Amino acid sequence: MNVQNALNFSDKKVLITGASSGIGYGIAQEFVAAGATVHITGTRTKSDYENDFTAMTFHSLNAANGEDIEALAKTIQELDILINCVGTVLYKKQEFERAGFEKILNINLTGVMHLCTAFYPHLERGGGSIINLDSVVAIRPALNNPAYTASKAGLKQLTKGLAMKWGRKGIRVNAIAPGMVPTKLTANQAGAEQEAAFKQRNPIQRFGTPQDMAGGALFLASPLAAYVTGQHLVIDGGMTL
Ligand SMILES: NC(=O)c1ccc[n+]([C@@H]2O[C@H](COP(=O)([O-])OP(=O)(O)OC[C@H]3O[C@@H](n4cnc5c(N)ncnc54)[C@H](OP(=O)(O)O)[C@@H]3O)[C@@H](O)[C@H]2O)c1
Repeated sequence: MNVQNALNFSDKKVLITGASSGIGYGIAQEFVAAGATVHITGTRTKSDYENDFTAMTFHSLNAANGEDIEALAKTIQELDILINCVGTVLYKKQEFERAGFEKILNINLTGVMHLCTAFYPHLERGGGSIINLDSVVAIRPALNNPAYTASKAGLKQLTKGLAMKWGRKGIRVNAIAPGMVPTKLTANQAGAEQEAAFKQRNPIQRFGTPQDMAGGALFLASPLAAYVTGQHLVIDGGMTL
């Protein structure tokens, strides 16, 4: 292996789902910097967002809609790396209602499974790699979010199951579990008071950033991780210790 060149992705095509903002967008920026051809998705249309997508190809995708996923897999004909950052949460006890519970499972777990199977033929052709964003809630549950917790615990094990099945086809499947990264998903948990408490409690005394998560994604997608599959890489600054 050429270590110097391991993080050069100039011959790679990458799709990052759920990358219109937050962690996915940060990961997309780092893959652009590493030379990759980058596709991203958001739920709305490109002009609805303030982020600069000029170095990427933007696609609209609702992961709850199977037809959207199938159409995306037809539009993007070649792919080496699939990174699923799609994810959402409901507050105000909505996840305790059947409709809310099903909505979250449908996007965070069923939607991600469908993305993996829809892009399996593309990845099989070139011996590709999948990275799913689960969460530290797969280890320590979130108090008010049973659906989000169950979806991420499911995604952790789904990742392992797909890694087992598809390893012999040359596809590696891994997960990244972020700790606390201020994004629109966590906007109500990342205020000044919560940040002060977080700093006091945790070994690395700051919230995580999308770039911290991108470091893990670049590693897992690279030849440096050629023998790594079915793993759940916790990137949380020591939050779960
Ligand atoms: N932030 C954290 O501390 C943290 C911790 C653990 C795990 N995670 C996981 O990291 C991933 C990224 O989250 P984030 O914090 O970066 O949040 P974010 O900024 O809200 O990004 C979520 C992304 O998912 C997209 N999305 C939401 N619902 C979707 C749907 N139905 N179909 C397709 N795409 C959908 C969003 O699109 P729109 O912009 O159009 O809404 C956005 O691109 C998620 O899977 C999340 O669970 C985050």
